[in-house]
Amino acid sequence: MTRRVLVCGGAGYIGSHMAKWLAAHGVAPVVLDNLSTGHREAVRFGPLVEADLLDPASLDAAFAQGPFEAVMHFCARSLVGESVQQPLAYYDNNVTGTLNLLQAMQRHGVDRIVFSSTAAVFGEPVAATIDEDHPKAPINPYGASKLMVERVLADAAHAYGLRSVALRYFNAAGASADGDIGEAHTPETHLIPNVLRAALGDGSRLKVFGDDWPTADGTCVRDYIHVDDLAQAHWLALDFMAAHAGAHAFNLGNGRGFSVREVIAAAEAASGHEVPFDIAPRRAGDPAVLVAASDRARQVLGWAPRHADLQAIIASAWRWHCQPRF
Ligand SMILES: NC(=O)c1ccc[n+]([C@@H]2O[C@H](COP(=O)([O-])OP(=O)(O)OC[C@H]3O[C@@H](n4cnc5c(N)ncnc54)[C@H](O)[C@@H]3O)[C@@H](O)[C@H]2O)c1
Repeated sequence: MTRRVLVCGGAGYIGSHMAKWLAAHGVAPVVLDNLSTGHREAVRFGPLVEADLLDPASLDAAFAQGPFEAVMHFCARSLVGESVQQPLAYYDNNVTGTLNLLQAMQRHGVDRIVFSSTAAVFGEPVAATIDEDHPKAPINPYGASKLMVERVLADAAHAYGLRSVALRYFNAAGASADGDIGEAHTPETHLIPNVLRAALGDGSRLKVFGDDWPTADGTCVRDYIHVDDLAQAHWLALDFMAAHAGAHAFNLGNGRGFSVREVIAAAEAASGHEVPFDIAPRRAGDPAVLVAASDRARQVLGWAPRHADLQAIIASAWRWHCQPRF
């Protein structure tokens, strides 16, 4: 029988790349999405069921397309600043929505889930690189909502035997090699797409939030991980869950930080265009440096990121931004 996975949020940036990966590896993806931030045109690798995690009855139509060996759960509201302004909407979508999903999984006998968590569960870093044992003290409702779900998954493992893997992404970046899907958020808050829009000469100038941070060149340092390397980790998590009970969490990053100025230089090299930018004040709540230690994912899942080179990651995003399909 064909293997099937329910990809919740599969019309979004990372979920659509996951659906593509699954289809390429012989597993049928069924996408569940409310298209709130996702794109119908990004659902190309299996059927779309329009459903909303906040409408429990709507979820049954998606599960009817099973049986599913697992759920991959990418749905979220994920704008940090907006989460501070609208915490109830964030807890509702990200926590209540996940509870509804877990209950639908129980109704339909699915007992494995890979959950999109985030570096935001850690809050202010207290170490140069962040491993799984780093203190978890989120500083905004977005990060707190994700940490709450991790706790729910741990309790559900204990009570019901739910198997789960929470993957804490640092900064997802890049696009599919053939340019058919890519990152398209509105508003776009992520650095690399905004750098590339400025490079395209669409009239926008990049805002660099602070050049007086305690880093080598004064700009913030982040860890960028290619979206296909994230998909690979989810793929490995399926095998891991088949062999291991319990709730598990892994940090996913390249383990190397790049400053905003380094990203701009790499984007200029990848695109052949200048990136116009202005220095703006620091944003509240931005740590100076955020870099993952992903040794556990490498050792336990056998994860081996294939796109570590920043310029190559940006080049894949550039191909998409030159000719976005949605
Ligand atoms: N992009 C990153 O760098 C990053 C980093 C860390 C964690 N994450 C997490 O990874 C996941 C995917 O991120 P993304 O960048 O692809 O986001 P995205 O907004 O592109 O995708 C999320 C998808 O979920 C759907 N969705 C949201 N709420 C829903 C609901 N209630 N019911 C049904 N569908 C719903 C949206 O329509 C969208 O298609 C999110 O959970 C995000 O918090 C992303």
